[in-house]
Amino acid sequence: MLDADKVFAGSVPENYDRYMVPLIFEPYAVDLARRAASFSPRAVLETAAGTGAVTRTLAPQLPADARYVITDLNQPMLDYAASRQPPDSRIEWRQADAMSLPFDDASFDIVICQFGAMFFPDRTAAYREVKRVLKPTGRFLFNVWDRIEENVFAHDVTNALAQIFPDDPPRFLARTPHGYHDTDLIRRDLADAGFSDVEIDTKADQSRAPSPRIPALAFCQGTVLRTEIEARDAGKLAAATDHAEAALAARHGNGPVSGKIQAHVIVATA
Ligand SMILES: C[S@@+](CC[C@H](N)C(=O)[O-])C[C@H]1O[C@@H](n2cnc3c(N)ncnc32)[C@H](O)[C@@H]1O
Repeated sequence: MLDADKVFAGSVPENYDRYMVPLIFEPYAVDLARRAASFSPRAVLETAAGTGAVTRTLAPQLPADARYVITDLNQPMLDYAASRQPPDSRIEWRQADAMSLPFDDASFDIVICQFGAMFFPDRTAAYREVKRVLKPTGRFLFNVWDRIEENVFAHDVTNALAQIFPDDPPRFLARTPHGYHDTDLIRRDLADAGFSDVEIDTKADQSRAPSPRIPALAFCQGTVLRTEIEARDAGKLAAATDHAEAALAARHGNGPVSGKIQAHVIVATA
């Protein structure tokens, strides 16, 4: 992972929430929130919460006396999440790096993290932090994307951009969001951090959009891919987005499009 891969700022939070969340994050947020709520937790920590895809789904399912602490490394993402959340006295917002959590030992029943682990520079260290703040027998629920070949639109957009920048293809999607899919490695990292019981469920779904323009905009302008494209040629963002759209249209048609998405969902017990 490059240092720039974890900077979600500028126009990314708004485009991320508008295009990316409905495209690929919502179905997994519903799944992760359902799993978390099934434990009836009283104290929940969410890390790498982004613009609040899980938060919006989970908050209504938590008990009235629950404490729900929502964190992210990037304040602009958290600000966006907070702006979309109705007033709720159970919720606390806090900027925090998952690598160094500003919470006491044994504070939470559940730590939840949707599609954040891929961005942590040292996963075992991050998981150790999770274990430290979990109560004994607390649970860590998180998910990570499977390999990019199992995630059709992300793969198509990556291939399309390689045609525009053949000498230095923007590889953010393959490198980081889709770069931590080896379930043996995930199990090893969790075991090294002290988690004894680990269940991994590989879950496929369909990503749908009214036209190929939406996934092109989502990936090229609602993710760190935007920064990568602009770093190569600031004037080429629109052309790169158009090219990705044309490639998606050539493969999936000009009308409503759908493509496979796949992720691993992990429940680890402290
Ligand atoms: C792909 S987004 C997922 C956001 C959200 N969970 C969702 O499902 O839409 C990854 C998030 O990880 C956050 N992030 C990256 N590195 C982080 C770190 N070290 N600690 C906490 N959050 C981090 C980013 O700011 C971003 O919001």
